[in-house]
Formats: sequence, C-alpha cells, structure tokens
Amino acid sequence: MTANKQVLLASRPQGAVTPENFRIAEAPMPAPGEGEVLVRNEWLSLDPYMRGRMNDVKSYAPSVAIGAVMVGQTVGEVVESRHAGFKKGDKVLTGTGWQLYGVARGKELTLIDASRVPASYYLGILGMPGITAWFGLFEVGKPQAGETVVVSAASGAVGSVVGQLAKNEGCRVVGIAGGRRKCDYVVEELGFDACVDYKAGKLHEDLRAACPKGIDVDFENVGGEVLDTVLRSMNPFLRIVVCGLIAEYDAKEPYGYKMLRSVLVNRIRMQGMIVFDWKDRYGYKMLRSVLVNRIRMQGMIVFDWKDRYGEALADLGARVAAGRLRYKESVVEGLESAPAGFMALLTGGNFGKQLVKLA
Ligand SMILES: NC(=O)c1ccc[n+]([C@@H]2O[C@H](COP(=O)([O-])OP(=O)(O)OC[C@H]3O[C@@H](n4cnc5c(N)ncnc54)[C@H](OP(=O)(O)O)[C@@H]3O)[C@@H](O)[C@H]2O)c1
Repeated sequence: MTANKQVLLASRPQGAVTPENFRIAEAPMPAPGEGEVLVRNEWLSLDPYMRGRMNDVKSYAPSVAIGAVMVGQTVGEVVESRHAGFKKGDKVLTGTGWQLYGVARGKELTLIDASRVPASYYLGILGMPGITAWFGLFEVGKPQAGETVVVSAASGAVGSVVGQLAKNEGCRVVGIAGGRRKCDYVVEELGFDACVDYKAGKLHEDLRAACPKGIDVDFENVGGEVLDTVLRSMNPFLRIVVCGLIAEYDAKEPYGYKMLRSVLVNRIRMQGMIVFDWKDRYGYKMLRSVLVNRIRMQGMIVFDWKDRYGEALADLGARVAAGRLRYKESVVEGLESAPAGFMALLTGGNFGKQLVKLA
C-alpha cells in the first residue's frame, strides 16, 4: 500500500483563509487496532463550520490543533476491519478528516447504502446539511402554508433543501443568492417562487418586491448585510432560524448591524447561545425590529437533534427516491485541491454542495 496523504492545519487564518494555512503531508499508512477499521476515503465534505475550527476560540466544538489533520466528514470503503460490524468493501460515513486513509473505531462509523443513491449524497442531502435543513425548518422555523419563507445561501447544500421543503409545505419561498446564474437555478430548477441576487446592489428593494406580504420565516445562512436587510422587511412574530453566519466567518471586523434594534421594538424572542454571542460581539443596529415585530430568533446546531437524525433521513430519503428533491454538487478533484475548494466555498465559488473527490 502507498503512504497516506493528509491536509494539516499549518497556521490559523487572520481574516480570509489562505493556502498558507494548510500543509499537505505524507504519513505512514495507519493500521487498525482491535475494534478499529481502516477506511480508504473516496469523498471529503467541505463545510463552512470548518472555518470556525481553524480559530482558537471557545465554541460548541473544539478547534483543530496546529499540525493536526483538518477535521471533516468523508465517505469511503473499508479496506481492513478489526471490528465485527464492518467488513472489507463496506461503504461507510466517517469523521476521519482531510486525508486519503483513516482509522476509526466501529462506533465512529456509519454504514451507508450506496446502491440506490450515490455515496456522496450522505455528505449532503442525506447527510449533515440535509439534516440541518430538515430540523432547522420544521423544528425551529415551523412554516405554515401561505407564509413567506426567505432562505439565504439558497443554492447551497442547506439552503436548497430548506427552500424545497418549505415549498412543499405550501409556503411562498424566496431565496437570496449571489449572481444571476445561481438565482435562475434556484427558481427554475429548485422551484422557489423568486430569488433575489444580493450582489445586484439593491437587496432591500428587491426583497420587498419579492415578498409583498412581508417575511414570516427567515432561514438565515449568511448573516451580515443579508440578515440586517431581512430584519427590515419582516412581519410581526417572524421566526428567524439562525443556522449560519457565513458572511462573518472570515471577517476581521464584526459586521456593524443596523437593524437589530428591531428585535427590541418587535418583541422578538432571541434564543440560543449563538445569538447571545452576537450580542457581545457585534454592534447590531436593528435589534429594535425584534421588539416591534415580536420576532423569535433562535440559534440552532444540528447536533441538538442527533438522537433523531433517523427521522430526518427517512423523510429526506423518501423524497430523494421519489424525485421530489433536486440536488447539486460542486466537485474538486484530489486531496491537494481541498484547500482551494474550501476557500471557494467561503466566498461563494461553489455552486451546490462542495465535495472533494479523493478516489
Ligand atoms: N447550525 C448548524 O448546525 C449548521 C449546519 C450546517 C451548515 N450550517 C450553516 O449553513 C450555512 C450554509 O452552509 P452550506 O454547507 O449549505 O454551504 P453552501 O450554502 O453550500 O455554501 C456556502 C454559500 O454561502 C454563500 N456565501 C459565502 N460567503 C458569503 C457572503 N459573504 N455573503 C453572502 N453569502 C455568502 C455562498 O453562496 P452565494 O454565492 O449565493 O453567496 C456560498 O455558496 C453556513 O452558514 C453554515 O455555517 C449550520
């Protein structure tokens, strides 16, 4: 067998991620101990949360140490097993990170059925992003038929699923995405009612036009100016699902929110640790809107529902099998391309769920 290859965290980013933050290294082929399995990784998932793990700050999950393998989920094939539950040739979901081969204990692996859907789907629509969309929308957003649901990063792994699920609930669904090409895809392929291009420079006007009855649910994937603008257009008792703040992950300076005043004025309910973090960190100006509009704003982390993932996966799997959920992947080839793929993901260079094809 050849040696293993890994992407290590070389340094912590100061602002935007750069290629120098990573180092590609060869390593000895790992050998599985008793109860362990050696996996040859075939697909690596690139996800925005990895940006947070590159920082040395307290969060809901530990940071990656300098010199350690970058954290991440993969799907791959078992090449050697010393665990009764797995055999050579099994396809598995792993957390072995940015490397060609990884060893894991049996309880850290999930067997996947790649006979009916591509194995890579377990990193996207039938994996963590899909589950996030499902619980975030149904458990936090709770959309009702006839309501208007706004979804940011609408063409992406989470946003594309959220919008399609909300549409199926009978909602008016409006996406926000960067560029005409992504917006056209969101409307024409995913079936959203409208999609606003935030790069066109008139987000507030365009959002108002796309949401003539105001906004009832905001599924927030972006933060910064996008969230601030949504806060100007919401209806009383709006629910904001704070799923992600990707516009802020690379920022050296916190975004100066202007609309958070709305939270106060609209009697918005702010809930969740992430939201409290913001309060200390950012100069939100539209918080009043939360009061005036009685907005309920809730942070969410997909792990909160880890005991119920099966529920989401059963429903998402049925919809995928029936052809009722459209899905797009954005693939870069080879482990060496992982840093570039990740930097693209953080700046909107991806179009769909970002993956690295390893084998
Ligand atoms: N809470 C949780 O448990 C959880 C779990 C999974 C994901 N998330 C969050 O969900 C969000 C989406 O994740 P994903 O995996 O589905 O990624 P994704 O949407 O597939 O890709 C990220 C997208 O974010 C948009 N973006 C990047 N920088 C931006 C900026 N400065 N302003 C506006 N949009 C920007 C880009 O789309 P455009 O080109 O359209 O701008 C990019 O394509 C992220 O914020 C992520 O952290 C949260």
